[in-house]
Amino acid sequence: MLKVGFVGWRGMVGSVLMQRMVEDGDFKGIEPIFFTTSQVGQPGPDIGVDVPPLKDAFDIEALKALDVVVTCQGGDYTKPVYQDLRGGGWKGYWIDAASTLRMADDATIVLDPVNRRVIDAQLAAGSKTFVGGNCTVSLMLMGLGGLFEADMVEWMTSMTYQAASGSGARHMRELLNQMGSLRDSVAGELQDPASAILDIDRKVTAAMRSGDFPTENFAAPLAGSLLPWIDTKLDNGQSREEWKGGVESNKILGRQVSPIPIDGLCVRIGAMRSHSQAFTIKLRQDVPLDEIEERIATHNDWVKVIPNDKDATVAGLTPAAATGTLSVPVGRLRKMAMGGEYLTAFSVGDQLLWGAAEPLKRMLKILRE
Ligand code: HSE
Repeated sequence: MLKVGFVGWRGMVGSVLMQRMVEDGDFKGIEPIFFTTSQVGQPGPDIGVDVPPLKDAFDIEALKALDVVVTCQGGDYTKPVYQDLRGGGWKGYWIDAASTLRMADDATIVLDPVNRRVIDAQLAAGSKTFVGGNCTVSLMLMGLGGLFEADMVEWMTSMTYQAASGSGARHMRELLNQMGSLRDSVAGELQDPASAILDIDRKVTAAMRSGDFPTENFAAPLAGSLLPWIDTKLDNGQSREEWKGGVESNKILGRQVSPIPIDGLCVRIGAMRSHSQAFTIKLRQDVPLDEIEERIATHNDWVKVIPNDKDATVAGLTPAAATGTLSVPVGRLRKMAMGGEYLTAFSVGDQLLWGAAEPLKRMLKILRE
């Protein structure tokens, strides 16, 4: 039985991973051991099977006894511990949600409905390090995998609408506090149907700009606004999130030698946990729309083509509809004014499921096959 150590299972991504593994009975048939950075010796979580007390996540000897480490603890944990473990000769499997190791030559980015072939080849070659992709990248490939599989994409832009959860749990709380502050600033006026909307707007804007507005985490108002920058700046003017879109997509697809140009602007919006993206796709050929829809819809069990009409779109192609589900709706599919080789599309997906926990959960299952 595989001895599997879990680190960072209490955080947001880790909790979603635990919940999904319990739902699917994934703890049966493995020996789960839970690690902690702060509560050594306390009882492990209730996951339906007996587990030993929590072990120290920095105890390299304890980690060395494992066949697999699954970590959602973040890059600050991965960096030192991975190095010490591998440096100490550990040959087990490392499955990680953090971005630290993603672009390393000996690491494979996992998204098996899209790159099972790449994963199998890496396993056969003896690879032991498997990392979940950036959330927008994974969700984009789950939605448009059919087009890439058929090598139909010459280049693509992805303009994102990313939820607060991508920044972390504290940011989600701050977004709600910001929303509440805005509402509270005009509570009286909202009670009165005769109050002037421009007065309401003026007060809301003043509240948003005031020193009291809660912005410790986002550093700026997000509720009632948006933030067109995610992560740090690179020398070429891209944000790191935008850079990931190109390099990680091509790595997942195993296309590093002939990469498809993929670029765009990444924007934080006031959604809770589902990321949305608007695509402009330059096709290699003018392929009929029904063939495109068919390829997208049949690529995997989770993608769902939403008809390009208003009712279906507002009902099914929104964060409110996708959150908490494994479904990846793709819609607004139509050819653009630039010509038959130009396709537009819009996708939505839960950033914590396919965007984070699900690919790791499935990689652990692949190791058990
Ligand atoms: N970097 C992403 C975001 C999170 O900020 O939304 C997950 O990859």
